[in-house]
Amino acid sequence: MKAEDKKIIYTLLKTADAYECGYTREKFAGEPVFANDTELSFPGSTRESRQNRDVEMSGSSPNMTQGLSLDELNAKILRCTRCGLARTRNNVVPGMGVEHPDVLVIGEGPGHDEDMQGLPFVGKAGVLLDRMLAAIGLDRKSNCYIANIVKCRPPENRNPMPDEQAACFSFLEAQIHILKPKMILCMGKIAIEKITGQNISINAQHGEFFEYNGIPVMPTYHPSALLRNEELKRPAWEDLKKFKRRLDAIKAN
Ligand code: URA
Repeated sequence: MKAEDKKIIYTLLKTADAYECGYTREKFAGEPVFANDTELSFPGSTRESRQNRDVEMSGSSPNMTQGLSLDELNAKILRCTRCGLARTRNNVVPGMGVEHPDVLVIGEGPGHDEDMQGLPFVGKAGVLLDRMLAAIGLDRKSNCYIANIVKCRPPENRNPMPDEQAACFSFLEAQIHILKPKMILCMGKIAIEKITGQNISINAQHGEFFEYNGIPVMPTYHPSALLRNEELKRPAWEDLKKFKRRLDAIKAN
């Protein structure tokens, strides 16, 4: 539905409600932000279509990115008002890194520092992430791109809600389609669950390989989890070494 249509329906309901009650209810105080529903739609954005993903994604259909460059896509992301996070954010955080990366790193969503700077993983967790990546020869300036499941900060650093993740996901799908990373590293449960569409136990399944449209994907512990629990650093390091072996093999072919 178009933003203007939503606004018309909202105004009608508001008028009818005020007429019925004889006053304007609190819930109507303040105007919501309306957005078009189908700004971007990419194959694979629903669970059902993901089942057919291998077939759909085997070619590189130009209309999947609607001809957008990464800069154009990120400019669209910067203007997004698809979900409530648009009302509380300071900055949108589309992502950063090189345009044809070896590795796409996917986090959960921006925190306070990222929201203030408009850049992903720039706080404490980001410093640790950069160290983890450097240990296996990766960095956002030369061979990685870093993005998140949601591009705006969830208030109080709560987990992004399913509807917020759903509203944002086609942006990530489009980024992946443009970036064409050789491998994807998912930091934590939220990222791997959204990418695979499966329930994942990070404790039991970190370091396993999954696939997204033919791209190998590995989940490991989120750097924030490593900051809270030092004991997770050893298994995370084992994951990273395994990830690097697979990346080296892909690059050697
Ligand atoms: N945590 C995330 O998941 N993403 C960021 O960008 C920063 C912290």
